Amino acid sequence: MKAIIALLPGDGIGPEITVEAVRALHAVASRFGHNFIFEQADIGGIAIDKTGKALPQETVALCKQSHAVLLGAVGGPKWGPSSKVRPEQGLLGLRKELGLFANLRPVRIFPSLQSHSVFRPEVVQGVDLLVVRELTGGIYFGEKRREGTWAMDACTYSEAEVERVVRRAALLAMSRRKKLTSVDKANVLETSRLWREVTERVVKREFPQIELEHLLVDACAMYLIRRPSEFDVIVTENMFGDILTDEASMLSGSIGLLPSASLGEGRLGLYEPIHGSAPDIAGRGIANPYGTLSSAAMLLRHSLGLEKEALALEEAIAQSIQKGALTVDLAPASPLSTSEVGHSVEALLLNPTSS
Ligand code: IPM
Ligand code: MN
Repeated sequence: MKAIIALLPGDGIGPEITVEAVRALHAVASRFGHNFIFEQADIGGIAIDKTGKALPQETVALCKQSHAVLLGAVGGPKWGPSSKVRPEQGLLGLRKELGLFANLRPVRIFPSLQSHSVFRPEVVQGVDLLVVRELTGGIYFGEKRREGTWAMDACTYSEAEVERVVRRAALLAMSRRKKLTSVDKANVLETSRLWREVTERVVKREFPQIELEHLLVDACAMYLIRRPSEFDVIVTENMFGDILTDEASMLSGSIGLLPSASLGEGRLGLYEPIHGSAPDIAGRGIANPYGTLSSAAMLLRHSLGLEKEALALEEAIAQSIQKGALTVDLAPASPLSTSEVGHSVEALLLNPTSS
């Protein structure tokens, strides 16, 4: 197939890691006979420097005309919290413009990396969970105000916003172990009480086969560490999902491993690692590209409908990790560079039997 992929490298390590995902996607294209065309645009700090805006209209237009969007990361000390225009506004704006309300963040454990986790092997063994984070509502997008010594961020959710993301999470649970954990703070927040009611209704009515549990977010933070392998699909609001997935990434050994897919009603999706722009290591060629490579596999699956190709890329990633092709975050004694890891995955894709 011919597909147009919008490429938004962004800031910090974004350009270094996306280059490796593009390399892998070219290898997939050549092995399976596809034609992927990459069209690059600016977002975040680099866009602010060039145009004054974190999300130029051309970037939005390009994404809307593409089959999928591959993004690196945005942000950096140059455009700190006190700047008037901030890189993060570009990413939030793009998620909203494209209607990407469901953010899928799978957490898997690669067997050879079990010893790299800060957790004991028996705790992380068998972990295979998926966090579905609501992405275009909640406190991220509510009214914000500052008056003198006082500040406000409003958190709002409508029934419809909760319904669609819970439905998406339930559908994903149906193709997995049919267990759904909904996370809220219903003992304190009104939005959480609405969230819980709507979730209960949607799942009981439309997915009676699913085992549904509700957890308060503070308890969930604890259970993610105490019994992570018991989770299947977790669905939660925007900010809780942001925080819980950074926590959950530690189960896998490095935040650099975790991919994400942001999806809306149609096929168009945005794919990015869950980590940030890591300005402290930017430009040194040492960033872990596996999270972005796995995001590219999700792109093949969810936006292009290429399941076989997605599995081939995931298999190459798993083999490469198994072989010990690791960056400094996971192999401080004998690290490979970002591009050496990318070449390792490329080679395994192009010569699948040679490993
Ligand atoms: C993420 C990031 C973003 C978020 C930032 C960069 C706005 O932390 O994708 O998890 O909070 O959603
Ligand atoms: Mn985050």
